[in-house]
Amino acid sequence: MEKTAAFETKGNTHLRLLGGDLRKLTRFVVLVSAALLAAEFLQVLSAQEKTITNPGAGNLAAIKEGASLFRANCSPCHGLHATGGGRGPDLSANRWTHGATDADIFRTITQGVPGTEMPANGFEDSEVWAIIAYLRSLVPPRQTLSGDIAKGEKSFSSIGCPQCHMIKGRGGLLGPDLSRVGASRSAAYLMDSIRDPSKDLSDGMLDPNNHWGLPLVYDTVTVVTTGGKKITGVAKNEDTFSVQLLDTDQNLQFFDKKDLRQVIHERKSLMPVYSEQVLSTDALRDLVAYLQSLGGG
Ligand code: HEC
Ligand code: HEC
Repeated sequence: MEKTAAFETKGNTHLRLLGGDLRKLTRFVVLVSAALLAAEFLQVLSAQEKTITNPGAGNLAAIKEGASLFRANCSPCHGLHATGGGRGPDLSANRWTHGATDADIFRTITQGVPGTEMPANGFEDSEVWAIIAYLRSLVPPRQTLSGDIAKGEKSFSSIGCPQCHMIKGRGGLLGPDLSRVGASRSAAYLMDSIRDPSKDLSDGMLDPNNHWGLPLVYDTVTVVTTGGKKITGVAKNEDTFSVQLLDTDQNLQFFDKKDLRQVIHERKSLMPVYSEQVLSTDALRDLVAYLQSLGGG
C-alpha cells in the first residue's frame, strides 16, 4: 500500500514538474511574443508619425463608401458635394486650415475642431479613411476665387462692415465675429451673405451660458413694451421669462417678458443688402478674398 502511494506521489511530482516547465515555457513564449509585438507596434507608431498613408487612397470602393458616409454625416454642414455650406467650409478646394496631410485630416475628422461647429466623430478607422479617399478624389473647382486682398480689406472698412462686425478684436457686435469666417464658410456662402443677408441667417455660436435658452439665430428682434415703445436689435440671450437685446446702437438691454407686449422675431437679417450698385462684382470678389485670407489663425 505504502509503496504504491509513494509511487503515485512520485508520479504526480513528475507530472507536476513537467506541468511547471510547460507553464514556464508558455510564459516565456508569451513574454517574447509580447516584446516582439511591442517592438513592432513602436515601429508602426514611428512609421505613422512619419507618414500615415491612407490604405483606401484611390480605391474606387473606398471612395464610394466615403461618398455615402459623407452624404449622411457631413453634407448638412459641408454641402452635398463638399463644396461648403452655411455651416462648414469647402473641403474640395484643397485648402486646409487644420493641416493637409492624411494624418491631419484623420485627426480633424475623429477629434473635431474644438470651439467650432466641427464635431468629433466615432467612426471605424476604415470609415475615416474612406471619407478621406472620397475628399481626395474631388477635383478642385476650376474657378478659384481670385480677388485683391488688399483692396478687399480697404473696402471692408470704407463701406462700413466694421460697424457691426469684429475682426481680430476690432469692430462692432451686432453681427458675428468674422475673424474665422473664411475658414468656416464657403466662398459662395460668403458672397450670398453679403448680397442677400436674409437668405440664410447665421447660427449664433451657442452661448455657453445659454443652456436653458432658445437656440440663437442672428435674426432681427423687435420688442414692444407695454407702453408701446419699440426697440430693435439682435437677441443675445432669450428664455421663457426674459430677453437680452443688443439694440442697433449696440447697447445691451435686458427685458422681463412680463413687461413686454410683444417679442417679434423678424426672421430677417439686420445687415443691409449690398447690391451691385453699392458693391460691384469685382469689389465683392476682393472682399471675399480678404475674408478668406484671414484663415483660421
Ligand atoms: C455641424 C456642422 C459640421 C458637421 C456635421 C461636420 N463639419 Fe466638418 N467642419 C465644420 C466647421 C464649421 C469647420 C471649420 C472649423 C473652423 O472654424 O476651423 C469644419 C472643418 C472641417 C475640416 C477641416 C477643414 C480644414 O480647412 O482644415 C474637415 C476635414 C472636416 N470639417 C471634415 C468633416 C467631415 C468628414 C464630416 C463628416 C464626418 C464633418 N466635417 C462634419 C462643420 C461641420
Ligand atoms: C448693420 C449691421 C451690419 C453691417 C453694416 C454689416 N453686417 Fe454682416 N451681418 C450682420 C448681422 C446681424 C449678421 C447675422 C445675420 C445674417 O446672417 O445676416 C451678419 C452676417 C454676416 C455674414 C455671415 C457670417 C456667418 O458666419 O454666417 C457675413 C460674411 C457678413 N455679415 C459680412 C459683412 C460684410 C462683408 C459687411 C460689409 C460689406 C457687412 N457684413 C456689414 C450685420 C451687419
